[in-house]
Amino acid sequence: MEGELAWGRSYAVVSPDHFRVDYVINPFMDPADQPEPERTREQWHAMLAALRDAGARVDVLRQRPDSPDMVYAMNLGIALTLADGREAFLASHMRYAERRSETTSAASWATSRGRVLLGVGRDGVGPHLEAGDLFAWRGDLVAGFGPRTEEAALAPVAAALDVRVRGLRIVHPAMYHLDLAFCPLDDRRAMVCPAAFDDASAAALLDLVPEPLVLTEEEALTFCANAVVVGRTVLMPACPPRVRDQLESWGFRVVLLDLSELHKGGGSVRCLTNPTDLVVGRDLDVVPGGEVVLP
Ligand code: ARG
Repeated sequence: MEGELAWGRSYAVVSPDHFRVDYVINPFMDPADQPEPERTREQWHAMLAALRDAGARVDVLRQRPDSPDMVYAMNLGIALTLADGREAFLASHMRYAERRSETTSAASWATSRGRVLLGVGRDGVGPHLEAGDLFAWRGDLVAGFGPRTEEAALAPVAAALDVRVRGLRIVHPAMYHLDLAFCPLDDRRAMVCPAAFDDASAAALLDLVPEPLVLTEEEALTFCANAVVVGRTVLMPACPPRVRDQLESWGFRVVLLDLSELHKGGGSVRCLTNPTDLVVGRDLDVVPGGEVVLP
């Protein structure tokens, strides 16, 4: 349909075979409150079914036993077709050492699917980059930085992909990835929580979105922006009434998912899924050599 996001029809996910809260790297994690494995599996499988019902294809990776956060597939990296037609995977360089083993498995998955590997750092050397901070939207790669991704990663990412990276500084400790505060809905609309950013970045983001659905901090902390959009279907873990009214009046269908066990690691639907159908030249403008725009 006209206006719909062109990407978001296929995803990589990680089955929650070893999901635990073993350490604390965000304000939601508490090792005293462990996910219950059976409920976790049920909730995760219901999410998978909802993705497929919405028309998405899904590629399932196994979780490494030594990587309890690997279920949050969004942070492994981003898969995309480059301007020269090569299929690529830009691997994340996780801020916290606890998550870095995940990238090794993600890299094997990507190469097994015929993707060339790109990266901006590894094993603590080079700038941190976490793909939960990245969204293709209206030709730009919108990139949150601060809590996880470092500002120094933006230029190498832009150069590696030949795209324009629009950096936004995140300052809210509980919205530590962009995907907790920003969710593109179609080519004009997006959910946006200005409270996640410093003043200049909040203003820059609002300028970027022709029709924003502005979320309060309280609304965003329900994880409602950590949603997945497949065409006109929005898969969400929570939807405050005002948000639902706006989405429905724009013609979206809201599907609510109970992911309470998976929230114990500090993420929801978007964190648990990783779109694999981004195309440079379609979803991102081709900018040879790359470019970084900051507020
Ligand atoms: N425990 C994970 C971390 O702190 C949660 C990741 C959430 N993922 C996301 N895309 N926001 O890294």
